[in-house]
Amino acid sequence: MTADRTTVTLVTGASSGLGRALALKLAAAGHWVVACARNQGALWQLAEEPQAQGRILPVVLDITESAHIAAAVAMVQQRFARLDTLVLNAGTCEYVDAAAPDLALFERVMQLNFHAQVAMVAAFQPLLQQSAQPQVAIVSSLAHLFPFSRNQAYGASKAALSYYADSLRVDLPWLHVLLIEPGFVDTPLTAQNNFDMPFLLTADDAAARMTTAITQRQLRCRFPRRLVASLNLLRLLPYRIRQKVAAKLAGASR
Ligand SMILES: NC(=O)c1ccc[n+]([C@@H]2O[C@H](COP(=O)([O-])OP(=O)(O)OC[C@H]3O[C@@H](n4cnc5c(N)ncnc54)[C@H](OP(=O)(O)O)[C@@H]3O)[C@@H](O)[C@H]2O)c1
Repeated sequence: MTADRTTVTLVTGASSGLGRALALKLAAAGHWVVACARNQGALWQLAEEPQAQGRILPVVLDITESAHIAAAVAMVQQRFARLDTLVLNAGTCEYVDAAAPDLALFERVMQLNFHAQVAMVAAFQPLLQQSAQPQVAIVSSLAHLFPFSRNQAYGASKAALSYYADSLRVDLPWLHVLLIEPGFVDTPLTAQNNFDMPFLLTADDAAARMTTAITQRQLRCRFPRRLVASLNLLRLLPYRIRQKVAAKLAGASR
């Protein structure tokens, strides 16, 4: 891999689910992809996929570790001397027992889904500034648009992340900030869900939508449309009624 004019894109959470599918799509679209996660074996396997076309560079990176982030910055600096697109996709979901809340769970979810994302943007800003078309794509979720049951930690972390993306865009006009808010996607993350997931997409389908949003430098990408429309309708309800609907849905899913 060399620092030619090909788009250099770093994808976090590339060992599984959405990030893996996205890394393959971007490589097939001609990007150099720096594919990051903690699972080295899964990353090496990804780089060997025929679709990767030799354009995926696997890098072990725990985004909650500042030393790991610094090493990743140094590696991208040395190999490419710039970063064109930073895709912040790594994330976790843990459900809360509101009757016996576990503060350590809240800290874990907020650390990965929010604080680590902010640390990544801060660390990679100098390399993004070396790009002619710098972009950060932040993977949040539609989950923060409605008060779902047991979702106090995940929903709050994604609400914080979406707000961060919108506000970052205001203060860094040189940086294109794309906010991605998917609905339900069939990945290891959602395999734990024991409730109905309306309009569930495959990781491949979701990654195709994300690739289009990145390539077209959209501002925000929410999908699938039918779920977005349903959530928007629920948000039009008076606050008290919306909370009642949420409680009813929570009861139905127990
Ligand atoms: N699936 C959905 O329905 C859905 C909907 C809306 C939004 N999202 C968001 O989409 C993103 C990807 O989710 P997914 O469904 O593809 O889940 P997934 O299959 O569980 O993938 C999560 C990825 O995050 C990585 N990761 C976890 N902890 C990490 C850490 N400390 N440092 C670096 N990487 C870490 C994991 O890799 P390692 O374990 O190898 O580190 C894995 O590659 C998440 O931000 C999620 O919130 C998903």
